[in-house]
Amino acid sequence: MRNIDIEKHVRGESQFIDDLIVPEGTLYASVFDSTIAHGKIININIDEANSISGVRAILTSADIPGIDQVGGIIPDETLFAEDEVQFIGEPIGIVIADSIEIAKKAAKKIKIDYEPLPAIFDPREAFEKGKLIIPPKIFFSGNVDEAWNKCDIIVEGQVETGGQEHLYLETQGAIAIPQEGGKIKIFSSTQSPTAVQRVAARILDVDMNNIEVDVLRLGGAFGGKEDQATHWAVMAALAAFKLNKPVKLVLNRMDDLRMTGKRHPYSSDYKIGLTSEGKILAFEATYFQNGGAFADLSPAILDRTLFHATNSYFVPNVKTTGISCKTNLPPNTAFRGFGGPQGKFVIEAAIHKASEKMGIDASEIQRNNLLKNGDSFYYGQQVENCYAEKCWTDAEEKYNIKKLKQEVEDFNRKNYQFKKGIAVMPICFGISFTNTFLNQASALVHIYTDGSVGVSTAAVEMGQGVNEKIKIAVSKTLSVSKDRIRIETTNTTRTANTSATAASSGADLNGNAAIIASKNILERLIKSAAEELKIIDISDLEIKDEFLYHKNKKTKLSWNELIRLTFQKRISLSSNALYATPNIYFDKETNKGRPFAYHVYGTGITNVTLDCLRGTYTIDFVKVVHDFGKSLDPVIDLGQAEGGIAQGIGWLSVEEVVHSNEGKLLSNSLSTYKLPDIYAAPKEIEVTFLEDSENRFGPFNSKAIGEPPLMYGIGAYFAILNAMKAFRPDKEFEINAPLTPEKVLMNLYRKVEVPVTS
Ligand code: MOS
Repeated sequence: MRNIDIEKHVRGESQFIDDLIVPEGTLYASVFDSTIAHGKIININIDEANSISGVRAILTSADIPGIDQVGGIIPDETLFAEDEVQFIGEPIGIVIADSIEIAKKAAKKIKIDYEPLPAIFDPREAFEKGKLIIPPKIFFSGNVDEAWNKCDIIVEGQVETGGQEHLYLETQGAIAIPQEGGKIKIFSSTQSPTAVQRVAARILDVDMNNIEVDVLRLGGAFGGKEDQATHWAVMAALAAFKLNKPVKLVLNRMDDLRMTGKRHPYSSDYKIGLTSEGKILAFEATYFQNGGAFADLSPAILDRTLFHATNSYFVPNVKTTGISCKTNLPPNTAFRGFGGPQGKFVIEAAIHKASEKMGIDASEIQRNNLLKNGDSFYYGQQVENCYAEKCWTDAEEKYNIKKLKQEVEDFNRKNYQFKKGIAVMPICFGISFTNTFLNQASALVHIYTDGSVGVSTAAVEMGQGVNEKIKIAVSKTLSVSKDRIRIETTNTTRTANTSATAASSGADLNGNAAIIASKNILERLIKSAAEELKIIDISDLEIKDEFLYHKNKKTKLSWNELIRLTFQKRISLSSNALYATPNIYFDKETNKGRPFAYHVYGTGITNVTLDCLRGTYTIDFVKVVHDFGKSLDPVIDLGQAEGGIAQGIGWLSVEEVVHSNEGKLLSNSLSTYKLPDIYAAPKEIEVTFLEDSENRFGPFNSKAIGEPPLMYGIGAYFAILNAMKAFRPDKEFEINAPLTPEKVLMNLYRKVEVPVTS
C-alpha cells in the first residue's frame, strides 16, 4: 500500500473528473462527429436539435473566436472539422444542454450531408499515393550496401504490428469554469496541462494567463492523454467562454473509443545480414507508420522507432527509414513506449527469422550481439553504464535458461496437442524526450509555519505513483516524515510551461526539480540555525529526522522550531526550481547526437503453453531481470513492471483494433475489444531487481520505469510462435501481430488437413 493513492482508490474516495462537485448551473456538452471516413461537409442541419428544450447552444468551427488549430507538432488539425471530414469520429461540433441526456439526444438529431471522397486506411497505400505526414526520415551508420557482401546469411521479410487501445479506466473529460474577468479555469484529465492551456488560449484568442489548468489525478493515460486530452478540455473551455457558464464534457466509453487515436499500427520491411557465427553485420528497415488523419505526435513517435530500431544490440551497419503515412483513421498517438516497441519488434522478428534459417535458437544471436560499454548506438550516442550483458547473465544464472529450454523440449517431445514455447527478450530503452527542449521540469516547494510541506510540480499523477516518488525524494532531502508532505495538484499557475508527464521521465525530471527546490530551502534553514546557535562552520550542521544535528549531536532545535525561527527572521520558506537534463543534444540534420540521459536495460524470459487444437494459449510465466537503478519505491516499480509486461503481452496477443472496409471501428466496446484480463495475464511474473545499478541522472540513483517493461511483452509473441513451430515444424509463419488465438488456429491449420491426435 505504498502508493499514496491506493488507499483512496480502494475506498472509492479518489476523485476523477467525473467525481468533482460541479458548481450550480453547470451545463453538459456532447460531441457530434463524422460518420464517414473522408468527404466534404455539404450541410449541417441543427434545427431539430436546437428545438429540443434544454439545449443551450450548438457550437461548430464557425464559433471559434481565435485560431482553430490544435496540432501539437504540425499545425494540421482543427478542433472541429471545417469543410472536410477525414475520419469516422472526427468532431464536428458540440451540443451544450442542461443535462448530458438532453445534449446526447440533441446531438443525435443533427443531420449532416456529406459528399464522400476516397478514403485510405493502409499506410503502404497512403505512401504510394504520396499521402505523408512528414517527409521520410533516414537514420544510418556504417554502410549497409557494402556490408551485405560480407554477410554469410541474409534474411528479408515483412512485419506487421497492430494498434492498441489505451483503455485508461477514466475516459477523456474536462470541466471548464468561467472566473471573473474572462478567465477560464479548466479541470482536465490530461498528461499535459500546458498543452491544454496553450491551445485553449489560442482557440479563445486570449492570453495564456487567462487560462488556468488544474489536474488532480488521471484514471490512467498510457500516452492517450499526452496530446489527445486537449481537444475535450478546449471544447469545454470554448463552451464555458461562449455561454459564461461552467461546462462539463466527459466522453462515454464508446465515444472515446471511436474518436481517439490508438497506438500506431506499423507495416515494416527488414533485411538483416549475419556472419555464420551469428554476428549481425547489417540491418536495414523501412517502417510504414499508420499515422491516421493528422500529425498529432506521429513524427516524434517515428523518431523513437528509429532510435530503438536495434534494440539492445550493437550493429555496425544500419539504415532505417521511417515513413509517417496519412490515412483516414483517428490520428494515432502516444502509447507507452512511444514507437519504441514497434521498432524493437521488427529487429526481433528479423533475428527470429535469421535463427530459423541458421537452425539455431534466436537467443544465441541475441546473446551474441548485446551492447557493451564502448560501443555506440547507431545514432551516435556512446554506450555507457551498460547493463545489457549483466541483465542477461543474471537472468541466465538466476532462472537457468538452459534448463527452462530443456523442459520445453522435453514437454514438446511428450505432448502432441499441447506445445510449449519459450523466448528471451532483452530490452534497452532510452530515457529523455527525444526533443531536447522538453527535458525540463519545475517544482515549487513551500514549508508552512507549522512545519508541514506543500509540493507542486509539473508531474501528473496517472496511477504510476509519481506523486509518491516525489514525496519520497522530498522527504529524503529535507529529512522530514512523508506524513508532513502533501503533493499538490498539477496547476499551471504554480508550475508553468510544463512538458507533458510522458517519456517515462516524470519522476526523474520533477523529482530532481523538487530536490533542488528543497535543497534551496534547506540551505537557508541551516544558515538560519547557524546564526541562532552561533555556529561558524555550517558544514557541521545537518537536519536528520526532523531535528537539527551539530557534529552528529542532536541540538535543541526541532524541525518545527527551526521553521518558526526562520520565518520570524523573514527568510523565505518557499523555493521554485527548474531541472534541465544536462548533456543531451541531437542534430536533426545529421540525425546524430546524445539524445538520451541514460538507458534502461533488462532481460525477460517468457514461457507459453499452446493448445494446438484450439489455438488458445496461456502465458505460463515471465521472468525478468530488470534495471531499476536504486529504486525509490520497489512496490511502485514492481507494479509498473508487472503492468507493463501485461500490457505488452496484450498488444501482441489478444488486443486487436479492427476497422470495417469503410474505416468504422468495429472493436468499439469492451465486448469486441479484448484486453488482457486475469486469465490472459501470465500465471507468474517474477521480477529480479538488477543489483549495483547506478544512475546519477535519476533522483537518488533511481531509474525511469514507466515504458521499458512493456517491451518484455514482445517475448510472448515469439514464445507463442516457437510453440506453433513445435507443432508445425514444416510451416513458415508470417510475422503479423497481434497473434490472437484465432490467428494462431488459422496459421496452424490453413491449407492443410487437420492431423489426428495420437
Ligand atoms: Mo508517453 S507514450 O511518452 O505519454
